[in-house]
Amino acid sequence: MNPWRTFFDHHAPRYLQEVFTRNTEAEVRFLLNELTLPPGAWILDVGCGVGRHAVLLAQAGLRVVGVDLSSGMLRQGQARACELGVSVDWVQADASCFGFGGQFQAAICLCEGAFGLLNAADNPYAHELMILRNIHAALAPGGKLIMTVLNGMAMIRSATRDAIERGAFDPLTLVEASTLSYQSPEGEQTIPTRERGFVPSELRLMLEVCGFEVEQIFGGTAGNWGRRPVDLDEIELMVIARRGRAARVTPCAQTGMGL
Ligand SMILES: C[S@@+](CC[C@H](N)C(=O)[O-])C[C@H]1O[C@@H](n2cnc3c(N)ncnc32)[C@H](O)[C@@H]1O
Repeated sequence: MNPWRTFFDHHAPRYLQEVFTRNTEAEVRFLLNELTLPPGAWILDVGCGVGRHAVLLAQAGLRVVGVDLSSGMLRQGQARACELGVSVDWVQADASCFGFGGQFQAAICLCEGAFGLLNAADNPYAHELMILRNIHAALAPGGKLIMTVLNGMAMIRSATRDAIERGAFDPLTLVEASTLSYQSPEGEQTIPTRERGFVPSELRLMLEVCGFEVEQIFGGTAGNWGRRPVDLDEIELMVIARRGRAARVTPCAQTGMGL
């Protein structure tokens, strides 16, 4: 099983206790302001998790589809939507191989919602290109994408020679290997994971190869969003892009890159 699914399935009931989730209402105001969607517009939340953005976007009158790998996270989202009396379509799928056909006016992929979260076998280029290709295919022409990703520049600046020698950080792919722990009925469990950072220039290139036009890259650390320049040391970057011309990445099977 994908280690991220195992981790998030167990972490789901505690996810909203994470400090970085505290500013969700302000984040949703930012999204609504940037996206300027009419009521009833369709928006896709990729790696939606417990739907902390999805549910509030639905409350604001949008039609929301949330995609996530973790049934545990989706269950929390369902319960929250039920509590608030709003409707979100929850879809359990891997973001690197789901398919929607151009019906969304906007998409979000926030706080490493699948993008940059790798399992042991994932190619760190192909995995992310497949996610972008799938989001591109889901968007209507001109549809906007807002995503936040790990800031590779900060990862490089904090990497130590020791971490590189131990294989905990690969400066060529910007993949960080770490061990996460979670509580299970059998006690504390650990699980090896891989997370990838991005530098703005490669992120722009990846998006353009997949048929997006990048409007702006901002600093985008969770809980602190705004139209402001990137700080080299902040945790995340935010990209605002639009679906442009046809993707230059051809449809590919789960195993292939198809560039
Ligand atoms: C850090 S959480 C972010 C959730 C949400 N976007 C937020 O801002 O709270 C990352 C989410 O990505 C999901 N995820 C990880 N890999 C995925 C994949 N390949 N496809 C779909 N979802 C994935 C996890 O299950 C988890 O819910």
